[in-house]
Amino acid sequence: MDVLVLGSDQLDGVTRAELRTLWGRAFGDRFSDLDAEHAFGGVHVVVRAGDTIVGHASAVPRRIRFGDRQWRIVGYVEAVATDPERQGEGLGRRTMEALHREIAARWPVAMLSTGRATGFYESLGWERWFGDSYTRTSSGVVRDGEHGGLMVLRLDPAVVPDLSVDVTCEDRPGDAW
Ligand SMILES: CC(C)(COP(=O)(O)OP(=O)(O)OC[C@H]1O[C@@H](n2cnc3c(N)ncnc32)[C@H](O)[C@@H]1OP(=O)(O)O)[C@@H](O)C(=O)NCCC(=O)NCCS
Repeated sequence: MDVLVLGSDQLDGVTRAELRTLWGRAFGDRFSDLDAEHAFGGVHVVVRAGDTIVGHASAVPRRIRFGDRQWRIVGYVEAVATDPERQGEGLGRRTMEALHREIAARWPVAMLSTGRATGFYESLGWERWFGDSYTRTSSGVVRDGEHGGLMVLRLDPAVVPDLSVDVTCEDRPGDAW
């Protein structure tokens, strides 16, 4: 098993296609092409077993505003997946622990949005976001429906002392959060 740390600019077309296949297998219809685009532009942990990619997680820089503090660049975690045939073997944990090291070297805080894996991330030190979430769009700041799946990893807790304030991201194509 090889755990590789790579920048998006180091991923060739073949590797990107392999990743798209992994995400399709792990997420099924829940994962769109825009979700795939969101995974690029930062740092990846790619786990290879022989010729096959069996695990992935990436973190990309995003501008986020906590409460009424200044906007900050944080790491935003995307496309965390273990091949369904290899789940439950500790690969997801290994992948995320490697990504945490990359995050810690770049950003004081990371965030992610998850539907089903809250317990997985909590076991890795992530905390649930309790405040409301918003998106800054070209027509103003809009409330983000009934999200509920936002989580935060606080490498430097002083940057985000309160998990119950509003949090705002910049809009992007596809899911903003
Ligand atoms: C979530 C996912 C990446 C976990 O990968 P994995 O390789 O199976 O995880 P691990 O084997 O390293 O499990 C680590 C721990 O998290 C737990 N765990 C795994 N998936 C979990 C989930 N969905 N909810 C709660 N806990 C979970 C495991 O029981 C294990 O606990 P333990 O250390 O006490 O034994 C994998 O299930 C997956 O690819 N799911 C589909 C895609 C997805 O939902 N990705 C996350 C979306 S943000």
